[in-house]
Amino acid sequence: MEKIYLDQASTSFPKAPGVAETVCQYLKGPAVNVNRGAYSAAYSVEEQIFETREQLRRLFHFSSGKGKNVIFTKNITESLNILLKGILHPGDHVLVTSMEHNAVMRPLVQLQENGVAFDRIPCRPDGSLMLAEAEKLLRPETKLLVCLHGSNVCGTLMPVREIGLFCRRHKILFILDAAQTAGVFPIDMEEFHIDALAFTGHKGLRGPQGTGGFLIRDELAACTVPLLSGGTGSISHTEEVPAFLPDRFEPGTPNIPGILGLHAALSFLEKNSMEENLRHEMELTAYFINGILDLDPEEKALKVIGKKNIDNRCAVVSVQTPEIDMARAAFELDSEYGIMTRVGLHCAPSAHKTLGTYPEGTIRFSFGPENTKEELDKALSALAKITGLHHGEGIKNGF
Ligand code: ALA
Repeated sequence: MEKIYLDQASTSFPKAPGVAETVCQYLKGPAVNVNRGAYSAAYSVEEQIFETREQLRRLFHFSSGKGKNVIFTKNITESLNILLKGILHPGDHVLVTSMEHNAVMRPLVQLQENGVAFDRIPCRPDGSLMLAEAEKLLRPETKLLVCLHGSNVCGTLMPVREIGLFCRRHKILFILDAAQTAGVFPIDMEEFHIDALAFTGHKGLRGPQGTGGFLIRDELAACTVPLLSGGTGSISHTEEVPAFLPDRFEPGTPNIPGILGLHAALSFLEKNSMEENLRHEMELTAYFINGILDLDPEEKALKVIGKKNIDNRCAVVSVQTPEIDMARAAFELDSEYGIMTRVGLHCAPSAHKTLGTYPEGTIRFSFGPENTKEELDKALSALAKITGLHHGEGIKNGF
């Protein structure tokens, strides 16, 4: 059976051309360490890792920062933990949106036990932010606002430019979780007044799993307490944690094959238009939503959750099948039709509560630059069969 991968919000596939070859080539050797060996092979790897930092700095338009301000971690969850647990102290207050993923919420709930408070800025049932409500939630001790850029549940985007202005006006820090948008949407750290940006390497950037990181301003880095400490290959005469970047936040041997794979992915992204990919992904999103609405205009057996258009969204579409169990539907999509999706709460219970889909969740379809309309036709046709909807005359997509 042909397999169709529509779970790009979880991790991208296929990876960018050159990623697998680069990882493999490094591991075949010499697979040397960085910052530790006094030989040319080690210097060459160091240079490539440094160039990867520069690529990321360019991608996120971080013109006031330098390559050293790009820190590698194993994923965006680790990045957000380092940032939130390193910056926040008892008595601090934080603003989030009601659409957050647990990568933000779980560290905050842990911090709550140590006297950190947070409030959720409400979002509408389509996931869009009610930013005006944020004013009412501000407190003298509000230190920062942290939020996702694109919802991993329904694709709705947050108005990052307006949020950045809000944070600047109220003199609070702005941390952006770019899990679903890095490598897909243009993000300008300077223009949006972002103080720290957390990213993952394995979704829109199309690099290997186990890669991620954050970009951070010098002033903020200096007052962020590192979550981890250990050997860095630098200032080895002292047992103190280095104050300088990136060493302050990068103890231990990094994921060198992963970072080199990410370097290959970023090189591909630099040569190929991000705009063109986005246009294609939005076209697929519109095609899929319209296909569902054509199948079931009254949305009785098949319901689109969140926005029903492509304004301010990424290529993530959640649906519900009110007449049949969704776990069963997702299982059948895969076992009978080869269509891979993600079903349930997507590690984002707060988002599902906002969308009115808690606790049952949704079936999520998410698209990447290499998905096609033909694949979506097959997914729509499978959904029609599973839900008992007939796909005959009047269906625009004509599958
Ligand atoms: N956060 C990722 C997802 O939404 C893993 O699937």
